[in-house]
Amino acid sequence: MNAFTLLKDDHEKVAGILEKIDGTTERATKGREELFAQLKNELDVHARIEEEILYPVLEEYEETRAISLEAYEEHALVKQLLEELASAPKDDEQWTAKFTVLKENVEHHVEEEEGEMFQKARKVLSEDEIEELGERLQQAKQVQKSAMAG
Ligand SMILES: [Fe+2]
Ligand SMILES: [Fe+2]
Repeated sequence: MNAFTLLKDDHEKVAGILEKIDGTTERATKGREELFAQLKNELDVHARIEEEILYPVLEEYEETRAISLEAYEEHALVKQLLEELASAPKDDEQWTAKFTVLKENVEHHVEEEEGEMFQKARKVLSEDEIEELGERLQQAKQVQKSAMAG
């Protein structure tokens, strides 16, 4: 399993959920709540496996160090917004506004990962390392998902 393929698949899934939430209104809070729970789940697992497996490897190389350190900070911002959105009433205009900011942040972050980060990572890592990272990401994802399912 190629690490970048796995992460891009996750990104695509998240983008789909973001679009769906974007289509909800303050009057359809039930759908909004379900979709948001899905989004938070996906992002929690995804951020965690990147922080545990991918970023620590990329931090070791000069070419990818700065962009990985930046990525942790972007995750922290996204997590903050997710927490605020989780506890705020979903039938409020402010929720919609905050969600838009979250969506923009996630999209920017994904663009940086799939662009600069993965391009530079392909230069410092061998094909085997990329495959091996993919296996580890996949395993960690399964562990996280089953832990969440209880
Ligand atoms: Fe990330
Ligand atoms: Fe990512």
